[in-house]
Amino acid sequence: MSKNKKTLKIAIAGLGTVGAGVVKILENNKDMITSRTGRVIEIVAVSASNRSRDRGIDISGYDWADNALDFASRDDVEIVVELIGGSDGVAASLAKQSLAAGKSFVTANKALIAHHGFALAQTAQDHNAALKFEAAVAGGIPIIKSIGEGLAANNLTRLCGILNGTTNYMLTQMEATGKDYSEILEETKLLGYLEADPSLDLDGIDAGHKLAILSSVAFGVKTDFANVYMEGIRRIKLVDIEYAKELGYRIKLLGIASISDAGLEQRVHPCLVPNAAPIAHVDDGFNAVVVEGDFVGRTFFEGRGAGEGPTASAVVADIIDIARGHNGPAFFIPCHDMKDVPAASISNRYGPYYIRLHVEEKPGVIADITAALRDKNVSLHIMLQKGSEQDGSVYVVMVTHEVREKDVMTALDQINALSSVIDKALAIRIENL
Ligand SMILES: NC(=O)c1ccc[n+]([C@@H]2O[C@H](COP(=O)([O-])OP(=O)(O)OC[C@H]3O[C@@H](n4cnc5c(N)ncnc54)[C@H](OP(=O)(O)O)[C@@H]3O)[C@@H](O)[C@H]2O)c1
Repeated sequence: MSKNKKTLKIAIAGLGTVGAGVVKILENNKDMITSRTGRVIEIVAVSASNRSRDRGIDISGYDWADNALDFASRDDVEIVVELIGGSDGVAASLAKQSLAAGKSFVTANKALIAHHGFALAQTAQDHNAALKFEAAVAGGIPIIKSIGEGLAANNLTRLCGILNGTTNYMLTQMEATGKDYSEILEETKLLGYLEADPSLDLDGIDAGHKLAILSSVAFGVKTDFANVYMEGIRRIKLVDIEYAKELGYRIKLLGIASISDAGLEQRVHPCLVPNAAPIAHVDDGFNAVVVEGDFVGRTFFEGRGAGEGPTASAVVADIIDIARGHNGPAFFIPCHDMKDVPAASISNRYGPYYIRLHVEEKPGVIADITAALRDKNVSLHIMLQKGSEQDGSVYVVMVTHEVREKDVMTALDQINALSSVIDKALAIRIENL
């Protein structure tokens, strides 16, 4: 079958979870991929840190490079596939050097694209090379291609999604088992689901990287990770999940981006989402993205957000795209048309809030709290207070009407200063998706 088909030679840097998965797909599905692309895709060289590590794949037929940067200067290599990770270091050098040498570059590295996406897209464009990163966002969901091609007829102004499978797993497990955050965190660590630097997951940074990439693809803006507002799940307690349920919501860590006259809004934080919203039922390690277009309306994508198979599937889809000659701009519009849009501050968000307070149970406390809210025109829709804790403290939960973020936060600063407050107030934004 592969006779007379022109060979496309690739080099793979990084043979960990994703890299080994890519090798498996390219070897196992070789004939099918050849017939779909009209080209024989041949791995000619690989690189990793440790040559002798058992990876469950046979790499004896490929050249080995101790230094992955050698791939950028190999004349026979058309595509360099980077599956090492990290926003800088070898990954960034390999990207710059490969693209500058006119080689196409495929990566699953969200940190790299979030930090350097526009500059790399410019280098790719200047050297007629392709830059592709489908696997960097939402693992197995083909969301980059769906937005950049499938929804290209639409003016897109808003998107949101569950972009980090690990924190979604943790929130799902808290609800399912009734265990608190710290216990679930320990279990998640043991399962090996957390990044080597857990704050990438727990503080919303990984989701922030992906959101910055999606914003660029959807709105045609220069990648602006520096202005993504990020807040993770560390302060979510079991009591919040239980109160949210009672109020008809579930708690999800969402990335939300929109573009308007107010600027580019990009924020990652826990949200209360109504039980009736499809995204409320995306559980465990799954990811989901909601994209709204002016003609298509609301679209909803769901799939596995990470893992060897889904992520490698997206990497190989990019390689196939290049083999088919689909070498358009990285963000689907030429770099000179990508806009520099000022960031919209989260302090101007307007919407309802869930507020949880842990206070001493004594006369006058509720009056002090409501006075602080009244002073900032924060009006309450619901207030819940259940029986006291064993230590005599009490949780008070409130749901506000639609208010300005800066007013809620100023009122909470005032409340936090009260001597009766045991734990800093927690505000969770309610998103009526
Ligand atoms: N895992 C996922 O589910 C997933 C999902 C989406 C995106 N991603 C992204 O995919 C990329 C790879 O992730 P992964 O999970 O596969 O990571 P991983 O399992 O830690 O693999 C990293 C690989 O890079 C190799 N490496 C490290 N330093 C190197 C260097 N200087 N030169 C060449 N190779 C080097 C390692 O070599 P050794 O094996 O010899 O140590 C290892 O094979 C990251 O950007 C990650 O964010 C991963």
